[in-house]
This record gives sequence, structure tokens and C-alpha cells, in this order.
Amino acid sequence: MILITGATGTIGRELAQELHERGAEFRALVRDPDRAVDLPWSAERVVGDLDEPATLTHAFDGVEALFVLTPGIDSTHTAHAVAAAGAAGVGRVVLLSSSFVSGDDMPAMGRHHHEREQLVRDSGIPATVLRSGGFMTEALEWAATIREEGYVLDPVGPGRHAPVDPADVAAVAALALTEDGHQGQEYVLTGEEAFTIVEQVRILSRVIGRDIAVRAVDTPDEAIRLRFPDGLPQAVADVIAEAFAHVRADTVGLRTDTVERLLGRKPRSFEEWCARNASAFLD
Ligand SMILES: NC(=O)c1ccc[n+]([C@@H]2O[C@H](COP(=O)([O-])OP(=O)(O)OC[C@H]3O[C@@H](n4cnc5c(N)ncnc54)[C@H](OP(=O)(O)O)[C@@H]3O)[C@@H](O)[C@H]2O)c1
Repeated sequence: MILITGATGTIGRELAQELHERGAEFRALVRDPDRAVDLPWSAERVVGDLDEPATLTHAFDGVEALFVLTPGIDSTHTAHAVAAAGAAGVGRVVLLSSSFVSGDDMPAMGRHHHEREQLVRDSGIPATVLRSGGFMTEALEWAATIREEGYVLDPVGPGRHAPVDPADVAAVAALALTEDGHQGQEYVLTGEEAFTIVEQVRILSRVIGRDIAVRAVDTPDEAIRLRFPDGLPQAVADVIAEAFAHVRADTVGLRTDTVERLLGRKPRSFEEWCARNASAFLD
């Protein structure tokens, strides 16, 4: 039995679909079953909350492989998941981490993920770490300003990144959960092409057939204020602002061939992603 956390989120939904298509026996840890109604029929739903360890015992019963994805920046959820996995005798963990962990100059976003990786390593459970680059789905944050005013905010200027399709991250996660040979590995997952925001927007604009302006922000804080009008905890805002600065400084854009090596095919392209998600950007 495989248990996946974060099943109602970006990666988790793709992973549930991937496991369903593989015919794997799996369970989705959900806080609210109403949010899980559109998961594949073969997903067993189990209610539990990573904030409340007592709710996890039942969910982890009989689990052999665990996918851990925890939002935010602290490590408490990971600690609770790892403790429950240890108590249940889970034999394999796949952890979603971040490519910010790689490289010499690790920003706070990387340090938070590194702490989670360390918790998993310290547990002694054989583990695979997926250090994902930025998700292509981050572009959905542009949808409102594109639809309403025809522009996108650019906090990273000349910086490049090679966004990865969450479906590819999920496909690698499914592989590591269901096949041998991935334990002890740290996989850095990126898309095939590195883009500036201007270059990404040019592709999106062509695919959806609509002009889109790109507006540079003066400071990362401005981007955060405009992107998250309801506000963010200051600690999270600081981590995101630093991550923007990190990307801004990289004019090459980290790329790996790991997705292709593991899946035996090219990573999905940003153009394909735009075509699949075009309706989100149109009125
Ligand atoms: N965005 C990027 O570009 C990027 C790149 C690399 C790595 N990452 C990492 O990816 C992770 C986020 O993945 P995502 O975007 O797929 O997540 P997401 O869409 O934000 O979804 C978060 C998931 O966590 C669940 N969750 C939240 N609090 C919970 C709790 N207390 N107990 C149990 N489940 C809980 C949510 O369930 P509910 O439905 O109950 O809310 C939801 O399923 C973060 O660790 C992030 O740092 C992101």
C-alpha cells in the first residue's frame, strides 16, 4: 500500500492519477474528503491531518511506501509524517524537496527543504529525494492580471529558470514509489528549457492568441504584495522575496536531464503546458 500526502494539491493530484493509471494500490491522506471527490476512483481516502499526529496512526496502518509533500516553510509536518512512518514500519519514502537545496549558495527556501530532507535521512527509512525546480503551474498566478488587464508582473528580469511540468514530477514520484533502484537518490528535476519570464510570456501569448505585456517590478516585495493581495506571513514573504532574488541572479537557469533519464522521454514542454491550460488565461 502506498500513502500519498498533499493529494488534493498540484503535485498530489497528478500523482494520484499516475498511480491510478499504473494500477497501484494507494491511499490519499486528506483533511477534508469533500476536496478529494475528484481524485481517481481507485484512491482510498483516509482522513488525517499532519498537524495532529494522533490522526495519522490509522492512515499509516499497513503502508509500505510513503510520498511526503508538505506546504509552507517549517518542518513540523515532515517530522510528524516521518515519525508515523517509522512507527508503522514503512519501508520506503519519497520526499518532495526543492532544487534550491542544490548549489553552493542555498537560499532560505533551500535550507527549509534541506531540514526536511535531513529528517527523512535521520529516520533511516530508505528514501528518494525529488528536488524539483519551479513548477510550470506557477504561471497560473498570472491568469488574473492577464484576463483583466493583459499583463504579467516580472520579478526576476534577466534571471532564467527551467520550469518543470508537475505531471513529470509526479511521474518520477510514481516510479520511485513503485520500482526498486531509486532509494538513496537525490533527483534534481527541471524542464528542458530555461526561460526568462519575458520568454515564457511570449510562448503563452502565442499559444493563447492574445497580446500580453510584461511589467517589471521595482522590488521583489512589490511582486509579493501584488501577487498575494490577501497578504502572507512575513517569514514566508521574506523567503519568497529571497528566492526571486536568487532566480534574478541566475542568467543561465539550472537544467538537468534527470526527467528524461528516468522516464525515457523528453520532459513535457512549457508550450504543451500552455496549450493544456489555455482556458485559465482566457475570459
Ligand atoms: N511551486 C513550486 O514551483 C515548487 C517548486 C519546488 C518545490 N515546491 C514544493 O512543493 C510543495 C508544494 O506542493 P504543491 O504545490 O503540490 O502543494 P499545494 O498545491 O499547495 O497543496 C498542498 C497540499 O498539502 C495539503 N495539506 C496542507 N496542510 C495539511 C495538513 N495540515 N495535513 C495534511 N495535508 C495538508 C493540502 O491539503 P488540503 O486540501 O487539505 O488543503 C494540499 O493537498 C512545497 O513543499 C513547495 O516548497 C514547490
